[in-house]
Amino acid sequence: MVLPQIKNICCIGAGYVGGPTMSVIADKCPYLSVNVVDINAQRIQDWNSSNLEDLPIYEPGLDKKIEKCRNINLHFSVEIEKHISNADIVFISVNTPTKTKGIGAGKASDLKWVEACARQVSKFASGHTIVVEKSTLPVKTAEVIKKILEDAELNSQNKSKTTFDVLSNPEFLSEGSAIEDLEHPDRVLIGGENIEAINVLSEIYLNWVPKEKILHTNIWSSELAKLTANAFLAQRISSINSISAICEATGADVREVARAIGSDSRIGSKFLDSGPGFGGSCFKKDILNLVYLCEYFGLPEVAKFWEEVIALNKWHQHRISKLIVKTLFGTVTGKKISILGFAFKANTNDTRESAAITICKDLIEEGAVLSIHDPKVDTCQIEKDLGIKSSVNSEDPLTDKTFDSKGVWNYAKTTDESLSGSDASIILTEWKEYENIDWLKAKKIMRSPSWIFDARSIVNTNEVKNAGLNLWRIGDGSQI
Ligand code: NAD
Ligand code: UGA
Repeated sequence: MVLPQIKNICCIGAGYVGGPTMSVIADKCPYLSVNVVDINAQRIQDWNSSNLEDLPIYEPGLDKKIEKCRNINLHFSVEIEKHISNADIVFISVNTPTKTKGIGAGKASDLKWVEACARQVSKFASGHTIVVEKSTLPVKTAEVIKKILEDAELNSQNKSKTTFDVLSNPEFLSEGSAIEDLEHPDRVLIGGENIEAINVLSEIYLNWVPKEKILHTNIWSSELAKLTANAFLAQRISSINSISAICEATGADVREVARAIGSDSRIGSKFLDSGPGFGGSCFKKDILNLVYLCEYFGLPEVAKFWEEVIALNKWHQHRISKLIVKTLFGTVTGKKISILGFAFKANTNDTRESAAITICKDLIEEGAVLSIHDPKVDTCQIEKDLGIKSSVNSEDPLTDKTFDSKGVWNYAKTTDESLSGSDASIILTEWKEYENIDWLKAKKIMRSPSWIFDARSIVNTNEVKNAGLNLWRIGDGSQI
């Protein structure tokens, strides 16, 4: 069958992947009409907001794409049926979180949103439609989608014929650099059976991606490659974080170790920054998914190997909480602690699985009074993540008459507000503005003796020490 010329794209899911990915496609392919649809009407309204500050996600460079393409060849809409029906290609870019109940709970991906999409496509698609898995999915999910679509093909015998191809085209963008990653990908991966359909999708990317970077594989390899990429990246972080603990115990410095091993071209220098533990919506979920698949296919040793990457990450986060308490004379009860950064990494407002959540909860449990600052995360989001309402601001918690030994937190609008009166400041996200803090000024407004815990290795160590502040840095054995 000769596939028709592509004119209309529909992307189901206007989230962290759907929004930026489609913005870049719209920008690079002005001849295409790109329609991003979602069941979440509020999210769509935010994508359509005339104030670009109100876009539902923060990504550097995204606002410019939206400004350029929105309502020209890029549309955000809740009219899901209409846009599926008009589409030559449908991207499925919906959430695939870990199942919370039933078979595989706590490990397997919950595919109910993906299945719902497949059913919608089967019902409303017309003519030939290429269905593209953009969401990260367990191996063999394409079979489920195909099965649902094949049924629609059979039922369409008497109407004008509806036919489908299913491709896997996983997304490798990182939050905070999504636009840059989409514009200059290391590779675009397309898995499928029908080479014509693969070529049609490749044609879109060829508008800006060099041919040699577009990889074609079978569909199962493509699905598994996505899980494997995330598992390998997360594994590197757990590896270097495990080494940071040895550095702190022995007098070595994890930055020096990372530089030394990263200079070996077989190892490479990327993803060797020791930090407070990996966060983000996908590393943990995708490894758990891999673990589930291994168990399902009777490979318990392989499952155990990957499970350890997550266990080490959790252990590492609690390790940081414990050492903070230990350093602050064994108790943080009633002490104001400044938390700098709540997002799981810089340049995003996303807090999913952020290390800050675990560390803040640990410190609140110990009775601390946290003053949390983040340039892009708001109070509501932190309340949701911690499961605790923010308290009224308490400038001097130890003398506050209303204070009991229960930990609390409040939102600081500025870093000064967070630092003022605090015994310690913990840097959990590598926001640029934290690199430029005036530590002499900080020393004056903090309560002495004061500590800076730099879990991201971003401060100028001399400036902090010269200001008379005590400094702890991740993986720095010189502090023993
Ligand atoms: P997200 O939660 O930000 O967005 C998903 C959107 O899909 C939501 O707005 C939701 O309302 C919508 N949705 C769910 N079911 C729907 C339906 N039936 N019809 C219409 N809309 C529906 O998720 P995300 O972060 O964009 O991730 C999407 C997928 O991409 C996941 O599988 C994830 O693993 C993968 N991924 C994410 C990233 C990332 O950086 N976030 C990177 C690569 C891959
Ligand atoms: C990650 C992958 O990098 C993307 O390729 C993938 O598409 C995406 O997951 C996904 O599937 O969702 P993302 O989670 O957005 O992207 O961000 P990363 O830059 O990978 O960072 C993840 C976490 O690891 C962050 O908490 C970050 O601070 C931490 N990290 C990263 C380190 O602690 N050290 C490093 O050297 C690198």
